[in-house]
Amino acid sequence: MEIKNSVAIVTGAASGIGAATAQLLIEAGAKVALLDKQPNSAKQGLVISCDITDEKSTEAALKQIEEQLGIARICINCAGILKTGRIVGKKGPYPLSDFKQILEVNLIGTYNMMRLTAARMATLEPLGESNERGVIINTASIAGIEGQVGQTAYSASKGGIIALTLPAARDLAPLGIRVVAIAPGLFDTPILSNLTPTALDELVANIPFPKRLGNPREYAKLAQHIIDNPLINGEIIRLDGGLRLP
Ligand SMILES: NC(=O)c1ccc[n+]([C@@H]2O[C@H](COP(=O)([O-])OP(=O)(O)OC[C@H]3O[C@@H](n4cnc5c(N)ncnc54)[C@H](O)[C@@H]3O)[C@@H](O)[C@H]2O)c1
Repeated sequence: MEIKNSVAIVTGAASGIGAATAQLLIEAGAKVALLDKQPNSAKQGLVISCDITDEKSTEAALKQIEEQLGIARICINCAGILKTGRIVGKKGPYPLSDFKQILEVNLIGTYNMMRLTAARMATLEPLGESNERGVIINTASIAGIEGQVGQTAYSASKGGIIALTLPAARDLAPLGIRVVAIAPGLFDTPILSNLTPTALDELVANIPFPKRLGNPREYAKLAQHIIDNPLINGEIIRLDGGLRLP
């Protein structure tokens, strides 16, 4: 998929991985809509306040994008939240409301964006020798594969994104739309702020190479390649410096 002049949506675009991805796509010549529940004032792109779990909010955002930029051929779902806690902790059982909220944002919100953007992509003309209409990139996590203590809710939400990648790619294949998931390891973004420095140091010590947090721009570069390469489909790509969470 050609990035230049394509319309692209990035969710969670006010911070971290989403912000870096939106920035790289803008530099590559895409017309980018930056969606976030807590949007900031990006200098470039179309900034929209949008809660991905809310049908009305997402429908309104997509209508605005269509009117101001056109229908998106690229959707990169980066919005997500992290809350940890053991199933049974010092304060008793893990709050069901927290479990529901994490699944609501990370899994259901991502699915909501997929279904609404894919329905619009399906109305577009197919492009190029592959007859491609669009590409959706979802953000999983290596915690969706080897979740740690206290991560049942987060791991379940990211495991859901991993599990739906292949069937979603199969569903959307007749429409010429690809679905790919990126499973990041540890990235230097505000989402890690609830880890203590000691816990973070221990995690980084386990990364084979390079022994450091990922830079959000490194996620953006992988997203850029996925958009560009039509053969990548139905796959979960780890981006983690070889880290396997202990
Ligand atoms: N940073 C890491 O180490 C890491 C590792 C693995 C996976 N991830 C995943 O990468 C994605 C991006 O995370 P990040 O590290 O950039 O975190 P971040 O906290 O910097 O950014 C997340 C953004 O999502 C937005 N958001 C939250 N709920 C929303 C909602 N309902 N609707 C719209 N926007 C909403 C937030 O406002 C925030 O701007 C997340 O899905 C996260 O789970 C991050």
